[in-house]
Amino acid sequence: GRRPLADRHGRVATDLRVSLTDRCNLRCTYCMPAEGLDWLPADETLSDAEILRLIRIGTSMLGIRTIRLTGGEPLLRKGLEGLVAGIAALPDRPKIALTTNGIGLARRAQALADAGLDRINISLDTLDPQTFVRLSRRRRLDDVLAGVAAAQQAGLRPVKINTVLMRGINDHEAVPLLQWAIDQGVQLRFIEQMPLDAQHGWNRTNMVTAEEILGRLSERFFVVEDPADRAARGSAPAELFRVDGTDHRVGIIAAVSQPFCGACDRVRLTSDGQLRNCLFARTEQDLRTPLRSGATDEELADQWISAVAVKLPGHGIDDPTFLQPDRPMSAIGG
Ligand code: GTP
Ligand code: 5AD
Ligand code: SF4
Repeated sequence: GRRPLADRHGRVATDLRVSLTDRCNLRCTYCMPAEGLDWLPADETLSDAEILRLIRIGTSMLGIRTIRLTGGEPLLRKGLEGLVAGIAALPDRPKIALTTNGIGLARRAQALADAGLDRINISLDTLDPQTFVRLSRRRRLDDVLAGVAAAQQAGLRPVKINTVLMRGINDHEAVPLLQWAIDQGVQLRFIEQMPLDAQHGWNRTNMVTAEEILGRLSERFFVVEDPADRAARGSAPAELFRVDGTDHRVGIIAAVSQPFCGACDRVRLTSDGQLRNCLFARTEQDLRTPLRSGATDEELADQWISAVAVKLPGHGIDDPTFLQPDRPMSAIGG
């Protein structure tokens, strides 16, 4: 029998985001310090078999329909193609998506698509090589651009591009980035920066807001909300805008200024086997310990159900008592 992952606020989780590693080959300043972080030890990280078992429990017993593989940087996980193939071979095959920084993707996009990957989101914050270095502390812009092209060639559609704008660093690139996205035929989404950086340097007044981004875009484009897009949004974090005179859509993920928690359909699994009912959750449900000490599928499903049940109604960023979660974004999985 199937038991939905329902919470006490009427939401049902059907989208599982799985972090495959907390490591990364970039050092984006809004995410982690130059020296990196204390990475999780290998023996605390779930194996492919353990991940596949939890995903199977999610899809066959709990109504999970979409798996999004994230990181850190998920392409750093050895044998990622094999894991994708394993997910694609499950009896109730979920949709399989990947969120990546695109480094090394040029060589792997086709194999990932062949293994069963359905969709890909690639992070790209700038088109300027020097700004790329300033922002990510690595000289890899060309690798990322080659990765975007390879993803399109492999038939992964639509390719979505995630962009975080930082004041004084790349916020002047909103228009050129959108023009590039239109020319390439990829869907660009601007993301408001959330308080999830390892350095705890986020502050609201410094955040580039959705309103500001739309203002910048309107210096060059007329962007309008299409009623059909609004009706079809569902639980998608991105609000879509049509670029007038084209069929092109640009997205804004206004997680801070216009939270979409009320429609959230997500639950997250960290690479060390902890279930989180929200990006901003202050507690985690340990699935790794029971998984490694002989728990049955039913027992694991029960723990999963009770972890989702207590999900809070919102992220609480605006509450005076707000506390950033202990784990940074790179260890939660975005
Ligand atoms: P699509 O299904 O392709 O639209 O993917 P997505 O936008 O849900 O996922 P992606 O991994 O590309 O994430 C884009 C941005 O949205 C990242 O900054 C995520 O942290 C953010 N995001 C994704 N899910 C949530 C969520 O549940 N809550 C919040 N606040 N942000 C989220
Ligand atoms: N707030 C919003 N988005 C972030 N990302 C990384 N850190 C943050 C943050 N603090 C973005 C990455 C990537 C996506 C998965 O999340 O740039 O595109
Ligand atoms: Fe790596 Fe993503 Fe963090 Fe950048 S935002 S350092 S790409 S995990």
